[in-house]
Amino acid sequence: MKPEKGTKNILLGVSASIAAYLAFDLITLLRKEGFSVTPVMTRDARHFVTPLSLQSFAGQEVIEDFFSLAGRPRPVHIELAKQSDLILIAPATADVIAKLAHGLADDVLTCAALASTAPLVIAPAMNEKMYNHKFTQENLKRLEANGAKVVPPIHGHLVCSDEGMGHLAENPAILKAVRAALAL
Ligand SMILES: Cc1cc2nc3c(=O)[nH]c(=O)nc-3n(C[C@H](O)[C@H](O)[C@H](O)COP(=O)(O)O)c2cc1C
Repeated sequence: MKPEKGTKNILLGVSASIAAYLAFDLITLLRKEGFSVTPVMTRDARHFVTPLSLQSFAGQEVIEDFFSLAGRPRPVHIELAKQSDLILIAPATADVIAKLAHGLADDVLTCAALASTAPLVIAPAMNEKMYNHKFTQENLKRLEANGAKVVPPIHGHLVCSDEGMGHLAENPAILKAVRAALAL
């Protein structure tokens, strides 16, 4: 779980979106750009991607459940919060966005986000109606008003309907937001 020395460490939250597979290319790009990436997946993200794949792309242990890591000297979400220069959630589900907007913390990712003062970058991905829903929009506005950077999704292919707004932003846009949040 220890990031390489001298590099900026990004905690990459991967939540249970059909777009979770796009995290592999994102991890590759971030590492090419010199960042160290620690993946943290939500429980349901396991339905979409495997911890082994994320771990292999990141070259770092994947954290998914703090209770299975109870033997560690300090709670894992506190360690993660301390070691992370930035928290990036990509893809971010409507559920994770709602939880963050309201300070809920029922898994490693949301606990680490609450325990951290690092910049928070959120790249939503979801069905167009879910994205446009007033609750999701209000949650995103609330997060932005509190300093989070939201990288809006784009119009593109969605599994639930052929086309629509809600496709995860392209990697260059996510990278740009990461760099800006880190003042690089
Ligand atoms: C096939 C399938 C695809 C889904 N894709 C998305 C998605 O892209 N975005 C989203 O917000 N929820 C999506 N969901 C719903 C989430 O998986 C569900 O809300 C989940 O509990 C979120 O867990 P998490 O936020 O803890 O990762 C999808 C569900 C299924 C069955």
